[in-house]
Amino acid sequence: MHYKINTYGCQMNVHESERLAKSLEKLGFTSTEDNNFDIIVFNTCCIRDTAEQKILGHIGKLKKIKRANPKLIIAIVGCMSGQKGKAEELLKKYPYIDIILGANNLESLENAIINLQQKHQKTICVPTDEKPEVIENIEYTRTSMPNAWVNIMYGCNNFCTYCIVPYVRGRERSRKPQSIIAECKSLIENGYKEITLLGQNVNSYGNDFADKSIDFAGLLERLAQIEGDHRIRFMTSHPKDLNEKVIDIIAKYDTLCKNIHLPIQSGSNNILKAMNRHYTREKYLEIVSKIREKMPHCGITTDIMVGFPNESEQDFEDTMDIVNTVRFSGAFTYIYSPRKGTPASEMEQIPYEIKSNRIQRLIKLQNQITKDLSKNYEGNVYRVLVEDIKDNGQLCGRTDCGRLVTFSGDKSLIGSFKNVFITRSQSASLFGTITEDK
Ligand code: SAH
Ligand code: SF4
Ligand code: F3S
Repeated sequence: MHYKINTYGCQMNVHESERLAKSLEKLGFTSTEDNNFDIIVFNTCCIRDTAEQKILGHIGKLKKIKRANPKLIIAIVGCMSGQKGKAEELLKKYPYIDIILGANNLESLENAIINLQQKHQKTICVPTDEKPEVIENIEYTRTSMPNAWVNIMYGCNNFCTYCIVPYVRGRERSRKPQSIIAECKSLIENGYKEITLLGQNVNSYGNDFADKSIDFAGLLERLAQIEGDHRIRFMTSHPKDLNEKVIDIIAKYDTLCKNIHLPIQSGSNNILKAMNRHYTREKYLEIVSKIREKMPHCGITTDIMVGFPNESEQDFEDTMDIVNTVRFSGAFTYIYSPRKGTPASEMEQIPYEIKSNRIQRLIKLQNQITKDLSKNYEGNVYRVLVEDIKDNGQLCGRTDCGRLVTFSGDKSLIGSFKNVFITRSQSASLFGTITEDK
């Protein structure tokens, strides 16, 4: 019996698919990349309409496959499934779906399959409880050695007016610090070299503990002190909550990567207010200065959205201006997509042509900045974790500040840290050779 998991969306989903894989393996399924699967799981995303449409297209294609093999099990799980009314809509349109689970109901997968096999019963389980219990000791089938993901918290309390995440993932719940530390220690002992801590807003870690015994800075410090040759990253930071204490801890420990993903969304104070982001462009610039003052080479990356309701040309110019001022080492840029049930979807929308024109201008600007910044790496040596081998036989890995580097070497080097001399750059890519020099 074989399983296949199609993962859409963010790192959180990538990691949760490792959990789904474990559940399936416990039931005796083995993974396949071919089309000989007995169960297919879609771990879905609904952050933008484009994500959703793509997934719906893929579900549509399963109709033929199910007709040819009626025993095939089809499970649609994750964020998209958990939207209000979505399960009913999916079943009506695609009656051949067997299992639908929300992002907070993934633990039900095993029982859902057993019910289907033994009693021919479909399972539909989407969030009803906004604050489900945090489950500790979840098992994963990890496939990303030497990198490992570790969830430190679930859900989100921020309700940015454009965003669907709080509706499909529920309120913020932090994992116990002892469990997180134990998990990280065990990963490091088992040879993992890089751990990425995950949460929608890692800076509010611990806010939900009644005794306020630990915050994100406290957790980071305890993780930084774990012995071993490894490093730690985290995402995502919300600018309203990233404080000086966290910046100081990152600066203090070599094990903490000098790399902060700090989504700005917009450079216009009007728009930031309408987005319910709780910071201004001035506050954002202040955080960037503090980071750079303590860690001049810290990589700062961001997410930017264009075309939010009522975004004027001046608002957009404010975004272009802040991008020019900060000079991000990388930016994910998005066109605003109205999400049903969110406040922004009820606001006055702006025409697609304007959004499309703005995103093109923004991408052009950021590409130029990325290209210019890449030049600064040439001629210098960086410590790189060798992470993978590409199809062309070249090794690749990232610097501490998060830049991807490609270089020659044997694949036995995967999982080790090497000093790499950067010989040339091409837009966001850096190329180099392994060197003994520091
Ligand atoms: N919790 C993280 C990331 C959430 S989703 C954070 O707060 O930063 C990742 C990115 O998708 C967001 O930063 C935002 O830029 C983008 N995004 C979220 N909702 C969107 C929407 N409705 N339309 C377009 N982009 C969106
Ligand atoms: Fe969405 Fe905002 Fe929460 Fe991020 S912080 S997940 S953008 S509501
Ligand atoms: Fe991630 Fe998409 Fe859900 S971005 S949190 S998988 S809606």
